[in-house]
Amino acid sequence: MPGEEDEQWVKVCSEKSLKNGEMLDFDQDNKKILIAKIGGTVYATDRICTHAYADLSTGIMNEEEKTVTCPLHLSAFKLDTGIPQNLPAEEPIKTYKVKKQDNSIYIKLV
Ligand code: FES
Repeated sequence: MPGEEDEQWVKVCSEKSLKNGEMLDFDQDNKKILIAKIGGTVYATDRICTHAYADLSTGIMNEEEKTVTCPLHLSAFKLDTGIPQNLPAEEPIKTYKVKKQDNSIYIKLV
């Protein structure tokens, strides 16, 4: 299938090194990405809040709601869709596809 093989998957870390309830920073190609793991599922989103400049990796992850809350003005973003759940942020953060392969975590950057 053309295109499918060309997808740009980038290795982030080993599966074991990211525990449930943890977040980590990942920078690649000038993108600042947040990686988060909840209940065995790994999420990847942009790390910079869409409201003003704040790094979401210094915010608070809510495992039940599957959100990360911005440290600056407290908008919470869904980790799976990037959609903000409350003001002041109105724009979603970008989300990235994640796959696990050979005991490692990969994200698709494009
Ligand atoms: S900078 Fe994130 S809500 Fe304002």
